[in-house]
Amino acid sequence: MSTFDLARLLPADHFSTALHHDVQQGLTADPKWLPPKWFYDARGSELFEEITRLPEYYPTRAERAILTARAGEIAAATRARTLVELGSGSSEKTRLLLDALRDLGTLDSYVPVDVSESALTGAGEALALEYPELSVHAVLADFTARLGLPPQGGPRLVAFLGGTLGNLLPTERAAFLRGLRAALDPGDFLLLGTDLVKDPRVLVAAYDDAAGVTAEFNRNVLNVLNRELSADFDPTAFEHVALWDPEREWIEMRLRSLQDQTVKIPALDLPVHFEKGEELRTEVSAKFRRERVAEELATAGLRLSHWWTDEEGRFGLSLASPVETGV
Ligand code: SAH
Ligand code: TRP
Repeated sequence: MSTFDLARLLPADHFSTALHHDVQQGLTADPKWLPPKWFYDARGSELFEEITRLPEYYPTRAERAILTARAGEIAAATRARTLVELGSGSSEKTRLLLDALRDLGTLDSYVPVDVSESALTGAGEALALEYPELSVHAVLADFTARLGLPPQGGPRLVAFLGGTLGNLLPTERAAFLRGLRAALDPGDFLLLGTDLVKDPRVLVAAYDDAAGVTAEFNRNVLNVLNRELSADFDPTAFEHVALWDPEREWIEMRLRSLQDQTVKIPALDLPVHFEKGEELRTEVSAKFRRERVAEELATAGLRLSHWWTDEEGRFGLSLASPVETGV
């Protein structure tokens, strides 16, 4: 019999306490910024799913092509009993891994970890029906704060797909990888999806689509602040900006104020002034090269064992294992 349950590592007041703190920090900084995890309320998760189907947004299709070609090899190399997925969203591509591990006969549980409760329950309930033999233990958690890896059930394969690692800033990324390494045991694996450096026109289009879905996704973070903090942002008074930073090799998403305006955030007792043209940074999406992935993994104590790309070389999928420390 399949089972589905959801464990909450996020406290019930997460949206008030942690969001208060982040908004206070980010909106009083110069330049202003917000951490990307606040995009993903139920509407944000829905809009992200729409992004994955846009003609300009190639990463989902490219990563799916790699998984389609390599899921069998990944299953054989890892023989995972537990598949943990960080930032699992709809778990749509994950089915390729679940199928391959099920066919091999090693899999018994799937642990999707996400900040979006609606994404977890939607994906988890569907999977429990589609995979009658599988236990699905969803975990509502912030992977930058507490990883939420299940203590048993090895070998464990931790999948971190969708290029989400690139949404962390370099120092956050290093801390995250170190923390992940510390949570892994010998015999566990990391499967990491990273988008790759390419023609900036292709990159910018992926984050600034013609239909305006990404713009709506970006502005949705203001709706989250309005709802959770009783702020009075007018999302239409901000325009979506996506630009390529060639030095840092990342895409940066911003919201640009179309006018001089002061927004009230009563829950924080904070008036926030925006000049016309002032930009609020909402997200970075770093793009990688193979050497940089290998290097960052090595710095964290992880060894890259396999590197796959799609045929057009747009997206990279890495399999890595903890380096034995020998102590
Ligand atoms: N893995 C899916 C979804 C990627 S979108 C795919 O490849 O299509 C990023 C996902 O990570 C979203 O579901 C979002 O809710 C989740 N997420 C973002 N920041 C997070 C955090 N700090 N902790 C846990 N989940 C997070
Ligand atoms: N992990 C995804 C990426 O970096 C998230 C994402 C896609 C995103 N499009 C976005 C985040 C637009 C903010 C705005 O590709």
